[in-house]
Amino acid sequence: MIELKEVSFSYPSSAGSRRPVFQELNLRIPRGRYAAMMGPNGSGKTTLGKLVKGLLSPSSGEVRIDGRPLQAGEVSPRVGYIFSNPENQIVSSIVEEDVAFGLGNRGMAPGRMSARVEESLRMVGMAEYRTHSPHLLSGGQQQKVVIAGILAMECEVLVLDEPTSMVDLRDRREILDLFQRLHEDQGITLLHITHSFEEALQAKDFIYLENGRVSFLGPPEGFLASAPFAGGSNLQIPPLYQLIQGLRKRGHVIPPEVRSYAELKTFLLERGKAPRS
Ligand SMILES: Nc1ncnc2c1ncn2[C@@H]1O[C@H](COP(=O)(O)OP(=O)(O)O)[C@@H](O)[C@H]1O
Ligand SMILES: [Mg+2]
Repeated sequence: MIELKEVSFSYPSSAGSRRPVFQELNLRIPRGRYAAMMGPNGSGKTTLGKLVKGLLSPSSGEVRIDGRPLQAGEVSPRVGYIFSNPENQIVSSIVEEDVAFGLGNRGMAPGRMSARVEESLRMVGMAEYRTHSPHLLSGGQQQKVVIAGILAMECEVLVLDEPTSMVDLRDRREILDLFQRLHEDQGITLLHITHSFEEALQAKDFIYLENGRVSFLGPPEGFLASAPFAGGSNLQIPPLYQLIQGLRKRGHVIPPEVRSYAELKTFLLERGKAPRS
């Protein structure tokens, strides 16, 4: 579970009077939930993720992970953080050493460590690359190595900060399926920050952050049905929803249950048959 209680945060700035990123923000993501977070650039998504991991500490208020409050300056070992750029998270020149890095820091015995590394690499489909150099792999493969390293640490919470933005299409689907499996099979709590609505649709909860405030919290389909789609945001709306949005703008009433082209077609055809009022 991720809990933010009245969290305020500002970056130290030379100007002195910079607007805080968060003011008394409250947010609760229950244990084992898969939550997606979207919002315009600069709305505070990454800052929120870093507060959850403890890479930043609130100026007031509290962050709790599974009920346990993070102390000021404490980086939570229960939380894994995956950034967009895997190169920034790769620390070794051999895949298996990279995956083992965190375990080594924890002082795990080599035999156990090797088994855990093997298992983690297998989970992300990268076992055959264990002796390769991560720097020669594709962005998607590198991201899988980073994810294996985090899985090896057996975190209860994962913060995924635009994890597929440097990943090609083929690896992207695999990585997204992996997140879904981690959520379903292992009950890991996921906070998945993304610019892609298609990605967000695989989460149960959807959070829209605007100017450091949660302006929507609910199922992603609910957001699509209700959102004004504010100009200036770089929300990537799937083409189907752009079409539905366009139809709604022209006065057509399309119910939120319509979630595929086939359903839209059926709905429009059925409506066409109905007598006009
Ligand atoms: N290291 C930093 N120092 C000062 N200001 C920052 C820093 N990182 C982010 N900010 C500011 O904090 C706000 C939120 O940024 P961020 O959390 O990165 O947003 P997002 O991830 O939603 O794009 C923005 O106004 C941004 O300019
Ligand atoms: Mg960000």
